[in-house]
Amino acid sequence: MSQTSTPDLFTPLRLGAIELPNRVVMAPMTRSRAGEGNCPTALTAEYYAQRASAGLIITEATQVCDTAQGYPNTPGIHTDAQTLGWRKVAEAVHAAGGRIVTQLWHVGRISHPLFQPNGAAPLAPSAVTPKGELFTGQGMAPFPTPRALETDEIPVLVRNFADAAKRAVFDAGLDGVEIHAANGYLVDQFLRDRTNKRTDRYGGSVENRARFLLEILEATAHAVGADRIGVRLSPTGVFNDMGDSDPQNHFLSIAKALNPFGLAYLHVIEGRPGHHMAPPDGAPHVAAELRAVYKGPFILNGGYSRADADAALAKGQADAISFGEGFIANPDLPLRFQRDAALNEPDRASYYGGDAKGYTDYPALESVAA
Ligand SMILES: Cc1cc2nc3c(=O)[nH]c(=O)nc-3n(C[C@H](O)[C@H](O)[C@H](O)COP(=O)(O)O)c2cc1C
Repeated sequence: MSQTSTPDLFTPLRLGAIELPNRVVMAPMTRSRAGEGNCPTALTAEYYAQRASAGLIITEATQVCDTAQGYPNTPGIHTDAQTLGWRKVAEAVHAAGGRIVTQLWHVGRISHPLFQPNGAAPLAPSAVTPKGELFTGQGMAPFPTPRALETDEIPVLVRNFADAAKRAVFDAGLDGVEIHAANGYLVDQFLRDRTNKRTDRYGGSVENRARFLLEILEATAHAVGADRIGVRLSPTGVFNDMGDSDPQNHFLSIAKALNPFGLAYLHVIEGRPGHHMAPPDGAPHVAAELRAVYKGPFILNGGYSRADADAALAKGQADAISFGEGFIANPDLPLRFQRDAALNEPDRASYYGGDAKGYTDYPALESVAA
């Protein structure tokens, strides 16, 4: 394939240090099936290995430290046992011919004392309580008011991200990490002004609000190399009671500030029209402007079909497209796209928690045809 021909989903792509045979990326998806000690299990390895034909697998969000959890049975990568679990996942995916990075998160205020060491309040940039309720594993509960981080606690969290990245790449053998700076979790809580009311160097101006993310990138890049790091942003997302007074200008500044790092990629969520992650009515669409200012590889996400994705790639709106729900139900999504085959429908009731049902039991095309 020549460099100048119009790319489609099956044009190979390099994301920093990672070579992708296609541009059908698996979006990160929490499945709440981690085992004892929040460790990935043999079933986790089987699930990801089944999806190894993705150009790149981005794993479910994974805790960087013991204050980072906000949902039951989500995996971590801050203990040796968790890291060993990820090592087995990486080995299984690599043996199946795939590439896999893990998404690193801290949930910040989207948590509950039940998930926190010593039953403490969840941590956040500011003591702003999210509207709504969260699932604790023992039913629904109102979000508690988080505790605003002290300025000198923030570098410790930065270190947690860098240590987790080191574990991911050097100990577990994963191909890289994605910093979860989207969907209303801790990094996004710093980025957006609805949740960041700080008056120190981490709050106020957009430069200050971006400081936590940029410090994480500096530290993780120093630890594992920028060419193994991606960043995920959701500038207009409202999930987890999020919002910002000027997403367009603020996120343009943030995207520009990412340029000097030379990251593997920037991954932006902006749902297509009608998708639940589309910008709310009247709100600006910002993905195209971010694409214009961001100089590195760009992944788009949010309700794409195969045809939408090919059109977006042909128009240069992105270098790759990530698919979430499509990959839950179709372990061989790239092959189905290639053959124009029918897609399995996902079963929403088995998205979170449980066992192999709705996780590793979706049929691949070959087994259906046989
Ligand atoms: C079950 C489920 C779990 C998800 N968990 C995560 C997650 O851990 N991290 C993240 O950044 N996005 C998460 N998302 C959002 C997806 O990555 C993606 O943005 C969303 O599904 C839209 O893409 P799609 O229309 O191709 O499914 C999740 C989505 C689903 C359906």
